[in-house]
Amino acid sequence: MRALGVAIVGAGYWGPNLARNFGGSADWDLRWVCDLDLDRASGIAARNPGTRVTASLDDVLDDDAVDAVAIATPPSTHGGIGLAAIDAGKHVLVEKPLAASVAEGEKLVRAAGRQDLVLMCDHTYCYTPAVQKIRELTNSGELGDIHYVDSVRINLGLVQHDVDVMWDLAPHDISILDFVLPEGVEPVSVAAHGADPIGAGVACVAYLTMPLSNGGIAHVHVNWLSPNKQRATIIGGSRRMLVWNDLDPAQRISMFDKGIELDDAAAGETRRQRLISYRVGDMIAPALPEYEALGAMVTELAGAIREKRASRTDGEAGLRVLRLLEAASASMAGGGILMPISRLA
Ligand SMILES: NC(=O)c1ccc[n+]([C@@H]2O[C@H](COP(=O)([O-])OP(=O)(O)OC[C@H]3O[C@@H](n4cnc5c(N)ncnc54)[C@H](O)[C@@H]3O)[C@@H](O)[C@H]2O)c1
Repeated sequence: MRALGVAIVGAGYWGPNLARNFGGSADWDLRWVCDLDLDRASGIAARNPGTRVTASLDDVLDDDAVDAVAIATPPSTHGGIGLAAIDAGKHVLVEKPLAASVAEGEKLVRAAGRQDLVLMCDHTYCYTPAVQKIRELTNSGELGDIHYVDSVRINLGLVQHDVDVMWDLAPHDISILDFVLPEGVEPVSVAAHGADPIGAGVACVAYLTMPLSNGGIAHVHVNWLSPNKQRATIIGGSRRMLVWNDLDPAQRISMFDKGIELDDAAAGETRRQRLISYRVGDMIAPALPEYEALGAMVTELAGAIREKRASRTDGEAGLRVLRLLEAASASMAGGGILMPISRLA
């Protein structure tokens, strides 16, 4: 099978990771690296013999051997570069978030649909062994009904210029939530609070609270101002509870047979008497395969193009994340009021 041609646009912090994975994949021929800063582009290309560099998007789009364009530029540029690539007949991979607004994201989804092109958003975590496993556990019923999801993504982070901490980091948590919640369970609204205590011009600390359609609740804490790095999610289910600590490679996922049950049979007695029985059973740490998420992501992109199908993290998935982010921004601007999340296309 012929390798597909790909060009990476954006060779800053994240572009080199894409280049390493496209460059190392038998599915792909990394033809171009494009960046306004040619030194950055050259730095990547030097590691991939045969890869050309340019500062001009037109060079990339004029090359008939380029099947797909992978966009790793700042979010405010995703819409423009993505539309130009789709107009030129290229499949498109866009880094998270899909675009800077729902309206821009919808334009991308519509344009790709009209031209029968694959539009995929790099929701990287959806390709990690840990998140795959969590999806299996939530969707098989192993955890029971989902009561809550609590996600923390904090560190002393790079303060961005064109997005706040919520648009920078929470796309990870929201895309994970979108991927792992069982069919029919989804956030219905969001209340978001944020602060910019250092005067950066954008919120550097944010808290999102999302009531779920099954009566449960999800919470996301993102923070660029934390002294230490934490990447942890707790999922409380009626049968099992799960802790995912992404910074513990020896035991990323721990699943606890723990729970609290109300004794209905004792109804009628005083509340204190009938309240609670505790279940404290074993903890297991599921074995996870070891592979790099971005490797699986570039393989999925090639598969979606060859098989003419939607990818696991397609434009619609990117749009669902944008709808939540936009509602969260509106909530934050309104002092934390609860905003419904629009599901309409
Ligand atoms: N999937 C992940 O886990 C992950 C992690 C980090 C960043 N990202 C995403 O990757 C994207 C890039 O983030 P970053 O941290 O690498 O940013 P960055 O600022 O480090 O790099 C962006 C690069 O794009 C170049 N650029 C800007 N406009 C351009 C244009 N019009 N044409 C060509 N080049 C252009 C800049 O010169 C720069 O080199 C963002 O969307 C970010 O959210 C994803």
